[in-house]
Amino acid sequence: MTAAALTARRAGPLKGRVRAPGDKSISHRALILGALASGVTEIEGLLEGDDVKRTAAAMASFGAGVERLGDGCWRVEGRGGFAEPSDVVDCGNAGTGVRLIMGAAAGFDLAATFTGDASLRGRPMNRVLKPLGEMGATWIARGGGRLPLTLKGGALKRIAYRLPEPSAQVKSAVLLAGLQANGGAEVIEPEATRDHTERMLRAFGVEVDVTEEGGGRRIVLAGGQKLTGTRVRVPGDPSSAAFPLVAALITPGSEVTVEGVLLNALRIGLLDTLGEMGADLSVTNLRDEGGETVADVTARYSELEGVEVPPERAPSMIDEYPILAVAAAFARGRTTMRGIGEMRVKESDRIALMAAGLTACGVEVEEGPEHMTVVGAKGADHPVAGGARITTHGDHRIAMSHLILGQAAERPVSVDEPGMIATSFPGFVQLIQGLGGEIAEEAA
Ligand code: S3P
Repeated sequence: MTAAALTARRAGPLKGRVRAPGDKSISHRALILGALASGVTEIEGLLEGDDVKRTAAAMASFGAGVERLGDGCWRVEGRGGFAEPSDVVDCGNAGTGVRLIMGAAAGFDLAATFTGDASLRGRPMNRVLKPLGEMGATWIARGGGRLPLTLKGGALKRIAYRLPEPSAQVKSAVLLAGLQANGGAEVIEPEATRDHTERMLRAFGVEVDVTEEGGGRRIVLAGGQKLTGTRVRVPGDPSSAAFPLVAALITPGSEVTVEGVLLNALRIGLLDTLGEMGADLSVTNLRDEGGETVADVTARYSELEGVEVPPERAPSMIDEYPILAVAAAFARGRTTMRGIGEMRVKESDRIALMAAGLTACGVEVEEGPEHMTVVGAKGADHPVAGGARITTHGDHRIAMSHLILGQAAERPVSVDEPGMIATSFPGFVQLIQGLGGEIAEEAA
C-alpha cells in the first residue's frame, strides 16, 4: 500500500531525544569528492535519502566504486577522475547533486547527459552553465538551460567568477571545475554561503585559500591539485532538525532534543531568528567533529513574538524559511522575511506554496517577489485553524512544514505526494510519531 496523503492532527506535548538524519549538503559532497579522489573514502552517517542515493548512483556511473557497507556507512573508491557514463545520469529531485556533478565533470574529456524529475527539469541550470562555459565546457540544453542537457567536458581555463546570486551550489560547481582548470579558479561571493565544499576539499588534501571581504568571501584554488581519499563523518542536518525543533516550540508542554546537529556558522540563521522570537532553545555538548561544529539542541514550547528577518540572513537559512513561516503563524504579531527571492527557484516556488498553504490553514500572509509576511495568530481571537489539504508540488520541505503545522492547529492538515519527504528526511513520520506526534497515512 502506498500512501496517497499524510494527515497530521493535534497531539499532546512532544517529548524525547532524537537524531537528525545526516546533512544533505555534506552527504552529496562526500560522495562526489570521494569519486574524484584517488583511493578509498569511508563515509559514516551518510543521509540515505533519495537525493543522495541518486548522487551515489551517479558517482558509480562516472566510474567510482560505490558500496553500501551498512546503515549510513558507505565506501567510495575513487579513480582520481571521472570516466564517461554509458547512460543518462538521472539526479532525481536534487539540485545540489546535478549542479555539483556538472562542475566536477566539466574538466574531463567526456560527454554526459543529465536529467531529473519534473521539479528538477524546471529549475535554472544556466547559473552553473554560464561559468562552466566561460571556462571552456560546452553543452546542449532545453530552453533556459533546463534539463535534460548534455555537457561536453574537456580542457578548462582559469576563471575569476563573481556570484550574481548567493548560491553555494554555483560556488561549488566552479570550484570543482577549477580543480581541473589550467590556472584553477577564483570565486568571489558578495554574501558568504555554506562552505562545506571548501572545508571538505581541505580534508581531501586540496589547498583552498579563503579571505573574508566585507560580508562575503574570496575563494581561490590552484588547478591540478589531487584529492586523496579520506574518512568523512556526516553531522546531523540542521535543515532537517528544524522540523522537530519547531514542532516542540509551537506545541504546548513540549520538550525535544535533537542530537548531533551541525552548527556551522553559515547554517544557523534559523536558530538565530527563533532566538530573537523568544524561543527557549539550548545548545549543549558543543564539539568539533571532522572540522565542523556539532551540538545537541533542545527546544521547549515557547510564546513566540514576530520579528523582522533581515535579507543578509537569507543564505544561512534559505531552506528553513518554510518552517520558520510555520513558527511565525503561531507567534504574536507579524514576521517579515526579506531578501528571500531565491526561495522561488527551489524544489518549488516556496514563497507561493507557503503563502497558499498557510492561507488555506487560516493564517494571514502577504507575499512579494522578494519577501513574505506572516501574521501570527497568537493573541488573536482564533488559533491557527488548519483543516486544509495542501498541494506540495512534490516539495519535501513544503510537505514537512505543513505536517508540523498540523501538530498544533485546530483541525487536521493533509499533504499530497508524501513519498517525496524521503528525498531529504527518510523516517520523518516515524521520528515525529516517536516524539508523540500524530501523523497518519491515507491509503491510495
Ligand atoms: C545547497 C545550497 C543551497 C540549498 C540547497 C543545498 C548546497 O542551494 O538551498 O538545499 O548543498 O550547496 P543554492 O546554492 O541554490 O542556494
